[in-house]
Amino acid sequence: MTGHLLDIHVERKSFAATTVLNNVHLQLKAREAVSLLGPSGCGKSTLLRIVAGLEKDFQGTLRSSAGEVAFVFQEPRLMPWLTVEQNIGFSADKHYDKAWVAQLIKEVGLDGFAQALPKALSGGMAQRVAIARGLYSRPQVLLLDEPFSAVDAFTRMKLQDLLLQLAERHAIALLLVTHDVDEALYLSDRVLVMDNRPSSIRQELAVQLAHPRDRRDPLLAQLKALSLTELQRAHVI
Ligand SMILES: Nc1ncnc2c1ncn2[C@@H]1O[C@H](COP(=O)(O)OP(=O)(O)OP(=O)(O)O)[C@@H](O)[C@H]1O
Ligand SMILES: [Mg+2]
Repeated sequence: MTGHLLDIHVERKSFAATTVLNNVHLQLKAREAVSLLGPSGCGKSTLLRIVAGLEKDFQGTLRSSAGEVAFVFQEPRLMPWLTVEQNIGFSADKHYDKAWVAQLIKEVGLDGFAQALPKALSGGMAQRVAIARGLYSRPQVLLLDEPFSAVDAFTRMKLQDLLLQLAERHAIALLLVTHDVDEALYLSDRVLVMDNRPSSIRQELAVQLAHPRDRRDPLLAQLKALSLTELQRAHVI
């Protein structure tokens, strides 16, 4: 092992005759936050699925010393017939750690909603439940696939700050797919820019700014300009 939690080398990932990923090398250290930016269809979700062990049919190697890896998707994917606490504990019966679920409900700011059903929640609240459900298994790595793209801009900023707090508190590394350059830069230690299929990582930008960050920090603006240039070169925009 290399001192990394995850060390992935996808030599090639194809669906039928289409090569999606070509020579993608990705490493993640404990507590690190890394974002993936790239064109639609370049294979970002596929790469996350490979990292999660959900997609095993690829050429390459996946080394992981992360005990638990959890996933948060764009849609909260809650079970409509289960309460908030049952959704977080993955269970309609009593066989889950109630104290841990109660703590997570508090940490994601949903005090008082333990018994609510998903239909009574706003989109942002539902995504808070999805994050708490992700944390339930005490993962060392949280994979997030466009987790905030369905919520409004202000809710999104609040959820970004919540995610950073939780990652810090629970010592979790984040691997995040987003189409939002500001989000990638605000959240991450490194931003990886992918190009079109067959995709590889064409550039890595380091964001050397301590947390808590200021969204108005001039360094973020500079890095945004650089990222936009790179995204233009990759024909993403
Ligand atoms: N199960 C599958 N069977 C066949 N093709 C697939 C499958 N999953 C993904 N693909 C193809 O692989 C390519 C990459 O898909 P993927 O969902 O990983 O892209 P993405 O970068 O996440 O895109 P987006 O930004 O739109 O979410 C696409 O061309 C897609 O059609
Ligand atoms: Mg995707």
